[in-house]
Amino acid sequence: MTDRFTENDTRLTEETWAELREIAARYPEARSGLLPMLHLVQSVEGRITPEGIEACAEILGITAAEVNGVATFYTMYKRKPVGDYHVGVCTNTLCAIMGGDAIFERLKDHLDVGNDETTDDGKITLEHVECNAACDYAPVMMVNWEFMDNQTPESAVQVVDDLRAGKTVHSTRGPRLCTWREAERVLAGFPDDLADEGPAAGPASLAGLKVARERGWSAPEAAQPRAVEQPASKAEAVAEADTSRAQSETKVEEVPGETQAEKKATGGEDK
Ligand code: FES
Repeated sequence: MTDRFTENDTRLTEETWAELREIAARYPEARSGLLPMLHLVQSVEGRITPEGIEACAEILGITAAEVNGVATFYTMYKRKPVGDYHVGVCTNTLCAIMGGDAIFERLKDHLDVGNDETTDDGKITLEHVECNAACDYAPVMMVNWEFMDNQTPESAVQVVDDLRAGKTVHSTRGPRLCTWREAERVLAGFPDDLADEGPAAGPASLAGLKVARERGWSAPEAAQPRAVEQPASKAEAVAEADTSRAQSETKVEEVPGETQAEKKATGGEDK
């Protein structure tokens, strides 16, 4: 395979360029593919690189600044190299009070890293993250965006030790954990066929459904959206707007109550 940017020491191969184009081609508007394209860049380069930004911009026909704006807005895109396992400890309100803060502090000490830093062996990047919509299993830790539910400082240390030792670790609600780069490739839309490993939803998430079934509750019928007739042309749209404005002005004049003369007398026009 040949490198596209040999002068810039890039690792973007022709194969990666082809896959980036493949992602863009999935969408009616090619630029809609930018998010998965950036995940693919991360899967091959370990972070968002200038070369990756240029490649996305070239394929999508947008500027590097526009790509950069997206890449720096979302926290899942990393400008620094990420370790084999990204460990995100939820320190949002519920997880924090259920032990998330204690887990994060313990991992910082145990791994000897600060927030958003990687261990010397390149295995673990630790980051505190916001709510993962998994509050029913608080405190929650994510490893490469797979759930590790109901953690304690001790269980969290065990997870990172096992990962660093090369042991197979399973998500508590998903498949065995792959590396961060492998997970990024899945987020780019290239499945690893592990999605069906492990339970799909746990008892805590299904508790409300269980109660509803026991009591015979069901969701109300969804209201059917009203069909909206689109004007065939701009001229029709203008005419329709004029008609509707005229109707609304007529309605104002038809409001029962004070006449214009009465309004003048009571000062109603200025109210
Ligand atoms: S607060 Fe941690 S998952 Fe919601």
